Amino acid sequence: MSSLLHFLRSTVFTKIVMATSGLLIIGFLVGHLLGNLLMFAGPEKINGYALGLKNLGPLLWVVRIAMITAFGLHVWSSIELALRNRAARPIAYDTKKSLKSTLASRTMLVSGMAILFFVIYHLLHYTFGIIQPNTYYAGGYRMESTGEIVHHVYNMVVAGFQNPFIALSYMIALAFMSSHVSHAMSSAFQTLGITNPNISKFTSKLGPALAAIFLIGYLSIPIGVMIGVIKKAPPQEHVLE
Ligand code: HEM
Repeated sequence: MSSLLHFLRSTVFTKIVMATSGLLIIGFLVGHLLGNLLMFAGPEKINGYALGLKNLGPLLWVVRIAMITAFGLHVWSSIELALRNRAARPIAYDTKKSLKSTLASRTMLVSGMAILFFVIYHLLHYTFGIIQPNTYYAGGYRMESTGEIVHHVYNMVVAGFQNPFIALSYMIALAFMSSHVSHAMSSAFQTLGITNPNISKFTSKLGPALAAIFLIGYLSIPIGVMIGVIKKAPPQEHVLE
């Protein structure tokens, strides 16, 4: 019992929490990107996808609660590790550069904080409709397939990125997210004890590759709106604007 408590309080446990919650968040980011790319397929597809998610009902809440827990544990473990680090080394190193460090690895706390602010801002924007309340409902969308009137996620996202300040803030946040992911993957695998040189060779490339896919994929949406590839959908009959 006491050895279990000792383990739960250890730095190793905190690092395992950070790594597993981080990998779960990366899984969410893959799914979220695939869903968001439906913006290129038009309103019927992305609004239908958002409706499909909503119709998952309790299952959606299970996933949401799992994700909120993962985000919460990830933030907690990063603060805990930073505090322990500081306590173990009250006088900072003269030089912060270690042999194998990269800009991404040295700025994990800064990029992590930027992502935390971004997620709060993003939820206030697209999930709660507080940042741009006039474009949140965006008139509603009548599904061509079923005639059902649903949340016009497509026009809401277009309206968001038609505002250059909002588009720029997303692009900056996405750069931080990509930098964070680029270092996070190999770090997580190392923490989880996957240190076999052959696997490490692969995992050390997986982080930067995924970071590049995330950056290009997510950026394509604000850029698509800004250059007019993704345009506001025209008003439909029987839907109030
Ligand atoms: C161009 C980039 C992005 C776009 C266009 C986008 C779009 C959206 C939209 C439209 C929603 C609301 C869905 C709905 O209510 O039906 C949403 C929710 C959300 N987004 Fe994003 N997103 C982007 C990037 C990100 C990133 C980088 C993260 C994480 C770091 C993120 C995390 C979330 C979370 C946690 C939710 C709430 C999910 C839920 O309510 O179940 N998003 N996003």
